[in-house]
Amino acid sequence: MWEEKDIKKVLVTKEQIIARSEELGKQITEDYRKENKSPLIIALLRGSVPFMGELIRHIDLDCQFDFMDVTSYQGTESVGDIRIVKDLDTSVKDMDLLIVEDIIDTGKTLDTVVKLFKHRGAASVKIVTLLNKPSRRTVEVKGDYIGFEVENEFVVGFGLDFNQRYRCLPYVGVLKDECYQ
Ligand code: IMP
Ligand code: MG
Repeated sequence: MWEEKDIKKVLVTKEQIIARSEELGKQITEDYRKENKSPLIIALLRGSVPFMGELIRHIDLDCQFDFMDVTSYQGTESVGDIRIVKDLDTSVKDMDLLIVEDIIDTGKTLDTVVKLFKHRGAASVKIVTLLNKPSRRTVEVKGDYIGFEVENEFVVGFGLDFNQRYRCLPYVGVLKDECYQ
């Protein structure tokens, strides 16, 4: 892949992501079945799309999907407030929501989105995230299902971007220093 020339190191391989997505999908299926719930699965665009695709192959429930686009990022630094770029088409009232995210970093995005969904009357809200970067948290947000923990490093690939690039890489990695210029 042409993007690979810019990668300094691979943190999570494609095989690891595939295997972990299967585990998480099965766990989610079991948990929602136990409570007899049918989730509305909400992917936060755009980074969570590849992970969502992997995950839903292993979610065996009567579920629905929707997509929302919220933004807080320019380059590698959070700009604080969250803007809704695309809202859901589905009403979340009385629905059991499962939010799919690429990474929980400061926690601001999910904190805002979870509060918004509760305010709109969601029956329950859970989070599944491919990656978790706990060292960067400024707001308390816990993922209910977490793929992998990563150190305090900016990562790209498997949906995650740097200025909209590198999303198509089949693994998660760190860019060479000169690429962040
Ligand atoms: P938070 O609101 O700080 O938790 O940021 C969440 C969003 O920031 C994620 O959905 C990503 O889009 C983006 N983000 C945070 N850390 C990284 C990273 O290391 N690489 C790429 N995007 C990131
Ligand atoms: Mg994102």
